[in-house]
Amino acid sequence: MGKYIIAGNWKMNKLPSETYDFVKEVAAKNASASCEVVCCTPYVCLSEAVRAAKGTNVKIGAENLHFEDKGAFTGEVSADMLKDLGVEYVIIGHSERRQYFAETDETVNLKTKKALEKGLIPIVCVGESLDEREAGITMDLIAIQVKKAFAGISAADAAKVVVAYEPIWAIGTGKTATADQAEEVCAGIRAILAGLYDDATAKAVTIQYGGSMNAANAAELLAKENIDGGLIGGASLKADDFAVIVAAAK
Ligand code: 13P
Repeated sequence: MGKYIIAGNWKMNKLPSETYDFVKEVAAKNASASCEVVCCTPYVCLSEAVRAAKGTNVKIGAENLHFEDKGAFTGEVSADMLKDLGVEYVIIGHSERRQYFAETDETVNLKTKKALEKGLIPIVCVGESLDEREAGITMDLIAIQVKKAFAGISAADAAKVVVAYEPIWAIGTGKTATADQAEEVCAGIRAILAGLYDDATAKAVTIQYGGSMNAANAAELLAKENIDGGLIGGASLKADDFAVIVAAAK
């Protein structure tokens, strides 16, 4: 459906001094990838990551941004700052940011609009907790998250957004959603987008799965019709494992 994108989310791992060599290793192992390969790194690693990715097919992303252009926002980083470094992607609304850093559907929307305005590709994360899944409200919750994230965004811009479906109960737990569970929600997300926009826009959006995706389970997940890639945490920190996942995205 959408363009295949395999993105690593390093989270708060790896040092700036480790970044150049690691991104070079990722680039070497994925030089003939048939999908887009992205490394999303901590802010302090970005300039080394961009330097290492230059002239390769690896793209670099940040893990967050602020929605204002500039000003008195101590500790924050703007879209212009990321663009100035040569960053192309940005993760928005990861469940860890929603849980620990008070990210809301409203700030996710503001950040998504700012990223699009500035020419960054947003990777917008949505996903349900175990309680919500067990209560049978997964799709209701996902619908709210998707509708709020895309509020006020044109169809032309919406087609550039990457949506990452990351069930919270599957993140870092080793508990992957089954391929059928992941496909069901990703197909649901595409249907929500078709309702908000139209079929062509919904088909253009890359929908990733994330949550304990690894070298062993990636092929089955990525074979599903509505799963156009992955957002990979732990396995993106090991270049060999990450390369197996990239190779599975055909
Ligand atoms: P893990 O692959 O470590 O479960 O993390 C998934 C994730 O949160 C990616 O954003």
